[in-house]
Amino acid sequence: MSVKYSELRKKLKIDVKKPEQSELAYLTHFLHSAENGVADYYRTGADRYAETIVDLVEEPWYQGYLPIKWDVPFPPPENPTFKFIDLFAGIGGFRMAFQNLGGKCVFTSEWNHYAQKTYEANFGEVPFGDITKIDETEIPDHDILVGGFPCQPFSIAGVSKKNALGRSHGFLDETQGTLFFDIARILKHKRPKAFLLENVKNLVSHDKGKTFKIISETLRELGYNIHYRVLDGKYYAPQHRERIVIVGFDKNVFHGNEDFSFPEMSANPPMVMEDILDKQVEDKYTLTDNLWDYLQKYAKKHKAAGNGFGFGLVNFDGVSRTLSARYYKDGSEILIPQEGKNPRRLTPRECARLQGYPEDFKIPVSDTQAYKQFGNSVVMPLMQDVGKSILEVIKEKQLIHVQSPF
Ligand SMILES: C[S@@+](CC[C@H](N)C(=O)[O-])C[C@H]1O[C@@H](n2cnc3c(N)ncnc32)[C@H](O)[C@@H]1O
Repeated sequence: MSVKYSELRKKLKIDVKKPEQSELAYLTHFLHSAENGVADYYRTGADRYAETIVDLVEEPWYQGYLPIKWDVPFPPPENPTFKFIDLFAGIGGFRMAFQNLGGKCVFTSEWNHYAQKTYEANFGEVPFGDITKIDETEIPDHDILVGGFPCQPFSIAGVSKKNALGRSHGFLDETQGTLFFDIARILKHKRPKAFLLENVKNLVSHDKGKTFKIISETLRELGYNIHYRVLDGKYYAPQHRERIVIVGFDKNVFHGNEDFSFPEMSANPPMVMEDILDKQVEDKYTLTDNLWDYLQKYAKKHKAAGNGFGFGLVNFDGVSRTLSARYYKDGSEILIPQEGKNPRRLTPRECARLQGYPEDFKIPVSDTQAYKQFGNSVVMPLMQDVGKSILEVIKEKQLIHVQSPF
């Protein structure tokens, strides 16, 4: 008889409350793999936590809990055909995309505990924390590495703000700029067959192209053949969201001649804003007179100065601007016109749809946190399509099992 994850969750006190709860990461990673070899990476940590919770009996503490029925919105696939790891996982946009393709996630890292909370509610797994503190030898073998590494040091907004503060950015930024190198050291040690990295569009032009040069040269030096392209989410959801997508294949395996191409975009965006908006929305999402006045004055001032920046009222028949992590502040980049009222901002659920998330995605955090999380995330179906193209290459080489590898 199988045990439900929701019951285990209560019994084992799986509740993300504070940052850096690596014990819950060990436990949930272990539970996801308790019946296969990956478990060895997590058993000791899980045992350590279990000792504090369950009465120790002679047989292993988890014996009676298996197999687990994953009653979460997005359970792991029953017969996975490949393994992947989810770095800088946020709320799991990549995880959902790659699970949909039949992948089993064997390691995930995300240090923001609000994002960890959302991740656990949807996937039944708590990500490990700070990736810079995780030794690459502690990460299980995998076929594909995926990750959208933080973009603040590379984005136009981030760059100008940091310049204004007289601080360095990109690779010189001590706190964030080195996170790419965490990806590099994991690639070097684990040698996945392929990877998918995602970042803001202007990563390519940042610092006159030097940043991207360092990134691509590092990846090539590591023995990966890379393909990159700027892709727009608007072909999958009603949002203009351009991101650079970098895909790499291990030269030792594919010899640099893999037949990879990015998915072709359809001629027209398949959805418009009207398709994702709720008919009835609480008043709290309508802008106050003060804020609306302020946004209009601010836009006027900038227009006079020749800057295009200002609020963005959406066209119901079109697509929105890019949802950013700062949307929670005033919602100015995507405002919904309302008859006889000030415009309103999107609800968190509408933000989820704008990123192509399905309706059953759980949002267990405050609106502020939810806006940040969706603003940081990806247009999920676009990443799924890129993942599909990667898998076609790997499958062609018959490198992943048609049957479950576990
Ligand atoms: C651009 S977001 C990626 C979002 C993700 N692709 C998604 O679908 O939600 C980058 C994420 O990296 C996380 N992060 C930043 N530094 C980190 C670190 N040192 N260790 C682990 N996660 C980190 C941030 O908290 C943020 O959620």
